[in-house]
Amino acid sequence: MKKQIIALALLAGSFVAAGAQVYLDPKAPIEERVKDALSRMTTHEKVRILYAQSKFSSPGVPRLGIRQLNMADGPHGVREEIEWNSWSAAKWNNDSIVAFPSLTCLAASWNRDLSRAYGNAVSEEFAFRGKDIMLGPGTTIARMPLNGRSFEYMGEDPYLAGEMAVPYIQAAQANGVACCLKHFFLNNQEVDRFGVNVNVSERAVNEIYLPAFEKAVRQGGLWTIMGSYNKWLGEWCCENDSLLNGILKRRWGFDGAVVSDWGGTHTTMGAALGGLDIEMGTDTDGKTKDKSKGYNTYKLADAFERLINEGKIPMSVLDDKAARVLRTIFRTSMNAGKVIGSQCSEAHYDVCRQIGEEGIVLLQNRGGALPIDVSRCGRILVVGDNAVRNMSEGGGSSELKTKFDISPLNGLRRVYGDRVDFARGYYAGRARYGSADKLSPDSLARLRAEALDKAKSADIIIFIGGMNKNFRQDCENNDREDYNLSYGQNELIADLARVQKNIVVVTFGGNPYAMPWAQAVRAIVHCWYLGSMSGEALAGVLSGAVNPSGKLPVTFAARQADYPCFQYGREGYPGVDMQVYYNEGIFVGYRWFDTKGVRPRFPFGHGLSYTTFKYGKPVLSATSMTAGDSLTLTVPVTNTGKRAGKEVVQLYIGDEKTSVERPAKELKGFEKVALEPGETKTVSFTIIADDLSFYCEKTHGWVAEPGVFRAYVCASETDVRGTAVFELK
Ligand code: BGC
Repeated sequence: MKKQIIALALLAGSFVAAGAQVYLDPKAPIEERVKDALSRMTTHEKVRILYAQSKFSSPGVPRLGIRQLNMADGPHGVREEIEWNSWSAAKWNNDSIVAFPSLTCLAASWNRDLSRAYGNAVSEEFAFRGKDIMLGPGTTIARMPLNGRSFEYMGEDPYLAGEMAVPYIQAAQANGVACCLKHFFLNNQEVDRFGVNVNVSERAVNEIYLPAFEKAVRQGGLWTIMGSYNKWLGEWCCENDSLLNGILKRRWGFDGAVVSDWGGTHTTMGAALGGLDIEMGTDTDGKTKDKSKGYNTYKLADAFERLINEGKIPMSVLDDKAARVLRTIFRTSMNAGKVIGSQCSEAHYDVCRQIGEEGIVLLQNRGGALPIDVSRCGRILVVGDNAVRNMSEGGGSSELKTKFDISPLNGLRRVYGDRVDFARGYYAGRARYGSADKLSPDSLARLRAEALDKAKSADIIIFIGGMNKNFRQDCENNDREDYNLSYGQNELIADLARVQKNIVVVTFGGNPYAMPWAQAVRAIVHCWYLGSMSGEALAGVLSGAVNPSGKLPVTFAARQADYPCFQYGREGYPGVDMQVYYNEGIFVGYRWFDTKGVRPRFPFGHGLSYTTFKYGKPVLSATSMTAGDSLTLTVPVTNTGKRAGKEVVQLYIGDEKTSVERPAKELKGFEKVALEPGETKTVSFTIIADDLSFYCEKTHGWVAEPGVFRAYVCASETDVRGTAVFELK
């Protein structure tokens, strides 16, 4: 008790340790605190900090005044509190929060500053709620367009995902809240996630699936990472020696803690020697006395302690794990610099709105259908279930209990007032884990008839549909059934288009989808998920108060069958006998479409603006470079329209002649520039040899082959505005 009081006093900074208890001194270097704490702990205490004491916390060392670690999902806001030992809601009345936009939306903003603002704001909410580890963000690559969790990740390109993750992580951790990056590794589908073994080439692992995680670790300084449920190389990812010890800890120098996904730990030996540090979510009833399903039956609990005591696992293994957990504690719960934070602050709603505004992607805008001028517009008919749906509900672990959500319909009413009429048109129901509640065929027919009837007298229709967070939509533990929009939306849009030519389709969702009606509607806007300020962000863009500047972080194919993962039958997805084969190798996303000549509906990097941008000629600082050198590429970009706007200037590089097959070009840089009408800014990129290299399976390393390369300056992956060639000597 006395020690705890001293510990608290020290944390409060009221006096400095008199040399002895270094681990309690918030000013002492973390490594010294870890060493000191470790030297005072019994074997049992070291083991005890490695596994859960409740659904979302692991204990500290009460005897020494070392605090516990409180965790929460993640990644778009702090999840509602649940009970200590069960998944039931705790029914608190003070855990309502801000829902921030989905990470796919953040990626679509291509704005590193907004990512920093996101990490800062969301971590302030975590800190205020007493959390030390936020379970997120996610940098799993979007391999497959039906993945139920794509919305929690940052798209199909490793460079973009890594660049966007780093500022988020840095900002959150600067507040003393650890990020727990998800889901390491190859958790690219939800079907069979608890057992599927991923077979993928070494080259694809290194070029496509690892780099975003690596950047988060090396540049982001990541503190914790979550192992995924699936297997790689035949081993569970939470117990995978090659992955966790080999790549993460030894190759990348990760000094933080590996946290299991909830229930992702299977064996004591595997967890002990395979690199896991904190075991969470293993099945338990929380009753530690009956010894059947208590926390002490976790794989890293009593069984592990016995093996240590019997000398069957060296003490160094335990010390390493305990040190990693202590480091996490001193970085977060016992970090004197951890912020107090705030919940639902004005500033947080502002960040939420801004990310939404910049992440919304204007995909098509024929005849300048958008923006819809507030002073001149006629009768607007809003049709669609998502117009009135709370899209922060559902989806699985990322579900959020919000203080308020501005629905798309309410957002539009705030701007256009009573010129807005509404007809639901279709009904999606609510389905957490199972089938949705359904309306009778008669009621559905009535909804549809009402929309079609009102469509005749409207001047413009804003259809607001897409996906939602129901099971088998954008939701954990399963994937979407197919590439089409559900609930008869395709048919409804087509029917509406027969009565009314002036249609704007707005979709929400974490994935691309088929648009058989694209030619029949004038504008198409994709919103991902926009969180608490959905309606405001959307109304800003539709009314023109905000000039859209989002660009796609994933390719929108015309047809499901066009995606690389569907070229190889069930082997390629979802797998056969719990084995899935990534036979497309490195040709994921646009790398496939571009190289194989498959035309997407909307390419990676695509997004329109209400203004126009003219790109000047790209200029290189030299025509050749050596491996140790760098080149600078500059390109002037001018806003040639009448509105201020932001453009995402993208740099891709292609190898003109290679000894191995390579993508036609790959993203190596991007900058988002804000330009007033008539204004020109010069955007500059640095090119280094790493940007030119591929992973060689013979030498198990990166190779940049001398020869000619082409730099492509693009407004989207297929909209090349200028190129420049150079040679690597
Ligand atoms: C999910 C994780 C989540 C955890 C705790 C798991 O089912 O895969 O992403 O953090 O549950 O809710």
